Amino acid sequence: MTNARSLALAIACSAGAALAAPAALAHEAGDWIVRGGFHTVDPKSDNGDIVEVDSDTMFTFDVTYFFNANVGVELLAALPFKHDIGLVDGPTVASTKHLPPTLSAVYHFMPDAKVQPYVGAGVNYTIFFDEQTRGALDGTNLSLDNSVGLAGTVGVDIALDERWFLNAVVRYIDIDTDAKLDGADLETVSIDPWAFGLNVGYKF
Ligand code: NI
Repeated sequence: MTNARSLALAIACSAGAALAAPAALAHEAGDWIVRGGFHTVDPKSDNGDIVEVDSDTMFTFDVTYFFNANVGVELLAALPFKHDIGLVDGPTVASTKHLPPTLSAVYHFMPDAKVQPYVGAGVNYTIFFDEQTRGALDGTNLSLDNSVGLAGTVGVDIALDERWFLNAVVRYIDIDTDAKLDGADLETVSIDPWAFGLNVGYKF
């Protein structure tokens, strides 16, 4: 047998083994996966009558615990996002930072597959802090109430080997906040962003 033939045979055998025995990829009760990467949080375009909110991209990570092969619970966390706030069709007058921790139940449709689509639904708690004003609002005190809302997730994990995988995810998060200027109600701002994430993941 030539070296080339034995090499081809070895590759064919291992490919066959990989196809025949995908169980190593399957999630089991008690498994954890972690993902780290970036999300772009893109607020909807019409946020309120007075103000509008820009998008931002930031480092995020999430941890999922599996109750069985299909069902788990995922906690998403992030470094603070920073969003500029402008007057509608006008200049930037403020900025805010926020942390959007989100707890979701997730369902993996094909837990044995190398390409694993999943969906999730859960609750987002958004904490706004470090509100700054400038321009037309310079010298005023802007505050944004924290928000509790529903969050939906559609994602896919693509296995690189038994441990490592790539991930792409789209989330919709219902974030609404009451804005106050110098303590007086300004308006309710609907941020309701789409968030787009790219991650590297690890299973252990
Ligand atoms: Ni909303």
